[in-house]
Amino acid sequence: MLNLGILISGRGSNMEYILKAISKKKIPINPAIVISNKHDAKGLKVAQKLGVKIEVIENKECKSRVEYDKKIISVLSKHGVTQKNGLVCLAGFMRIISPEFVKKYKNRIINIHPALLPAFPGLHSQKQALEYGAKYSGCTVHFVDAGIDTGPVIIQAVVKVKEDDTEETLSKRILKEEHKIYPEAVNLFARRRIKVLGRKTIIS
Ligand code: GAR
Repeated sequence: MLNLGILISGRGSNMEYILKAISKKKIPINPAIVISNKHDAKGLKVAQKLGVKIEVIENKECKSRVEYDKKIISVLSKHGVTQKNGLVCLAGFMRIISPEFVKKYKNRIINIHPALLPAFPGLHSQKQALEYGAKYSGCTVHFVDAGIDTGPVIIQAVVKVKEDDTEETLSKRILKEEHKIYPEAVNLFARRRIKVLGRKTIIS
């Protein structure tokens, strides 16, 4: 069975949905470790309650991105989340990953983004969608490559934008879909049903 590492920075609701699906035996993967770059991330308590090990690596512990990611890699490896036998999920992890980390875990790091990529990458995607006047937005689970929110798409879900939506109401409806597609993507990966062919993924 593969070992899963989840990286969070805050609330951790996507992490929670993934961990709950695992504990209900819906996903055949071992939840090995949750790592946060913030000691007060709410998700840490949630992970602990669900019986999953946690570690904190504060941003200020390291001088450079490469040094930080080396620490992350060593913690992941210690818990069996390796480039051969691991999956790394970014779940609201608000740091940019170094190219070295991406290379080491090629096609083994996935992320959830609250927009239909390639639209509205980066921060505040729901606000970006509203300001642009998009009629539809949604969320995307994708592999992480060296760019920002640019890797091959695994699953997307569409959400209609309402005329009276605020950033808060739109974010809430998008999050509901995130909670469905992220566990689904982890399940597909765990069952080795995702193949990456260049920019495309093939789901069997
Ligand atoms: C989610 O909406 C996720 O898509 C977003 O942060 C939120 C984390 O919530 N991620 C990004 O914007 C990454 N660019 P959570 O901590 O409750 O899972």
